[in-house]
Amino acid sequence: MEVMQGDIVKGLLGRFQHAFGQPGRLVVRAPGRVNLIGDHTDYNEGFVLPATIDRAVYVVLAPREDGRVRIRSSNFDEAIEYPLEQRPVGTAGSWTSYATGAVEELRSGGYLSGGFEMLISGDVPLGAGLSSSAALEVAIVFGLTKLFDAEIDPVDAILLCQRVEHRYAGVQCGIMDQFCSRLGWKDHALFLDCRSLEYEHLPLPLADAGLAIVIADSRVSRELAGSKYGERRRECEAAVSALSASNPAISALRDLTADILEAEGHRLNDTLAKRALHVVNENARVMRAREALRAGEFEGFGELMNASHWSLRDLFEVSAPELDLLVAVAQSTDGVLGARMTGGGFGGCTVNLVRIDALERIRSRLEASYVSEFGRSPEIYVLMENHQTDVLYRASGARQHV
Ligand code: GLA
Repeated sequence: MEVMQGDIVKGLLGRFQHAFGQPGRLVVRAPGRVNLIGDHTDYNEGFVLPATIDRAVYVVLAPREDGRVRIRSSNFDEAIEYPLEQRPVGTAGSWTSYATGAVEELRSGGYLSGGFEMLISGDVPLGAGLSSSAALEVAIVFGLTKLFDAEIDPVDAILLCQRVEHRYAGVQCGIMDQFCSRLGWKDHALFLDCRSLEYEHLPLPLADAGLAIVIADSRVSRELAGSKYGERRRECEAAVSALSASNPAISALRDLTADILEAEGHRLNDTLAKRALHVVNENARVMRAREALRAGEFEGFGELMNASHWSLRDLFEVSAPELDLLVAVAQSTDGVLGARMTGGGFGGCTVNLVRIDALERIRSRLEASYVSEFGRSPEIYVLMENHQTDVLYRASGARQHV
């Protein structure tokens, strides 16, 4: 059955045929994400509210009869081949470590019943904080479980993808990125409780509301981001240990309230108190942001985004001068409802909620101010509609492997 056959699918199938000398049987897509609000809350078991974007990783697959695996990346123009049972040890963080790590997690979980050919291609900018790696993991896991007709609960698939980051890429990320890529919906944002993993799709009718999401990539190298991310995680854990000594009900910063922090804050040094206050307030903001989206109150939503940025900048201290400039310029531009840094920080992108009639204004103001201050342009993406993880093509008569 043919689910959809657009130009993208045709191009992918053509490249697959060229690379592997046989037709692709299945094409799937998993999108990147932009976090609208709720940063550095996921690993504190709190709340997040991201949305998928219109850029994605595509995976084309066909089974192989000899138990071997061949994976080609179009973006890197590299390929790797090995027997399914013998995952080669790669460099943590390379595309092959993510790809073979995802395959290995699926194999050891009993989800694969044979070898395969895989072509990977994507247009999520790499290293920009738009979750290209989560999209890669999700696309591979979604695609292979479909190819082999293996039953997997989507939340189990998401946890498997997170393990790939932890075990094979050496990134101790939270659950937000994989969750959003796998379960985010077109025309919706995704509210997620990172403790219970309960979620809610919230309408994000951008076009109907006359709005767009503008993503501005600072193009600041995030080399430091990994170690600083780990440092923030450890600070949050240290705050929990200090507070749980007198209040055992606190097992994560999620359990902290403004009142408890007020009463018990003296147990924390200044740095830990600032980190904890950010998490408490950010969780409260996400809950208010959820209400705002339920009610279609985009102005209120934008104000929460602004406040989130100031907190990430001043209390959690994960911003960067480049991000602060992009946010300050956006916040002072007519027609911008809200602006903030998004994701892990120390570089990467800002996210802006913008009226459609202000798109040219924000673009030129961001460009001009960034060039004048930092001598280079930001990369600007305008998001009018988003994607979701989906099967785009399945060859008719595709053999089902059990
Ligand atoms: C990165 C991580 C996420 C999350 C954000 C910060 O994107 O991958 O799990 O912790 O940083 O909110």
